[in-house]
Amino acid sequence: MPSVKSAPRVFEHVSLLPYNTFGIDVAARYFVEINHLQEYIQLVEEGNYAHIKHLFLGGGSNLLLTQDVNALVVKIQMNGIEVIDEDADHVWVKAGAGVVWHDLVWYAVDHQWAGIENLSLIPGTVGAAPMQNIGAYGVEIKDTFDHLDALNLVTMEVERFDSARCEFGYRESYFKHAGKGKYLIASVSFRLNKKAQPQTSYGAIQAVLSEKGVNLPSIRDVAEAVIAIRESKLPNPKEIGNSGSFFKNPTVSEPIANQLIDQYPGIPHYPVVGSTDVKFPAGWLIEQAGWKGYRSGDAGVHAKQALVLVNYGKANGSEIQDLSERIKKSILEKFGIALETEVNIV
Ligand code: EPU
Repeated sequence: MPSVKSAPRVFEHVSLLPYNTFGIDVAARYFVEINHLQEYIQLVEEGNYAHIKHLFLGGGSNLLLTQDVNALVVKIQMNGIEVIDEDADHVWVKAGAGVVWHDLVWYAVDHQWAGIENLSLIPGTVGAAPMQNIGAYGVEIKDTFDHLDALNLVTMEVERFDSARCEFGYRESYFKHAGKGKYLIASVSFRLNKKAQPQTSYGAIQAVLSEKGVNLPSIRDVAEAVIAIRESKLPNPKEIGNSGSFFKNPTVSEPIANQLIDQYPGIPHYPVVGSTDVKFPAGWLIEQAGWKGYRSGDAGVHAKQALVLVNYGKANGSEIQDLSERIKKSILEKFGIALETEVNIV
């Protein structure tokens, strides 16, 4: 770890507009960028910001800011990707929490190391990925996760978490529940596969590959197919503010699921591993309730993916939140399902 002589510079009243993909313009009371874990430790030891909450920020891509943030916003920028172990079949890769997630995916694709290619183009950083066990196209990070190192914010010691300790679930982890606010994730290590085992069964991946005439897809082919699908459905946050899926896909008990399937014969649904519950796509429910493409001022529901709420320009966080509440109410009334928010609202 590099030795740091002084704590990093803390700024006051900083606009968070460049730091959140929803494009919301609120201010942080204090703001600091951390390039090495030691810098944060130094800052805490100096004690000047002990009176105020610390809010850790990665890519700001799963966040809805509804008001000025009366906290020290700590922008995590710990970088670096390194191979830490290797055997005949696998390679263990460690990445700093501030590494852009897609850069890590691309690093793996370039080396033809399999396991995270289906997670191409997910916005955000490596450190945020385990918080909600990011997932897409049939793959979640828990599938390749090996361990992470996190700073315990009470003891200021670094602790190692294996997969079991992270308590991963669908868009869930220990860090969203019992561990909430207690750790700063510093780095994450993954076990990647040297032999390609493409997962192409989800959604349109196979169709995209067939259209291109690809029969034995490489890691790169799968990544490119995922990128093409995402680009066709999901708005680019650089063009239209958004935080990806705003809600989680709900799971319901089998009897209620059967009633819904009887009532709506076309309703897509998926089994939940290890349970008799059934998962329904919130995007389908929201579309059926008539919200797809809806717009009120600059807050809206994406026209190509109803699970994604968008900011067309000047919407504030409360307007997006109000829209989300109206959608929740309407889904509860129409389907009897209570949607849960996936995005963190601050
Ligand atoms: N659907 C509709 N209308 C819509 C959107 C979806 O009918 O407006 C239907 C689709 O036709 C399909 C089903 O819903 O039958 C599922 O749609 P899709 O494959 O687009 O995925 P999703 O369930 O809506 C989830 C993740 C996404 C991830 C995709 C692909 C959640 C909350 N979202 O969305 O993750 O990219 O699967 O794996 O699980 C994110 O978390 O931010 C995110 C974008």
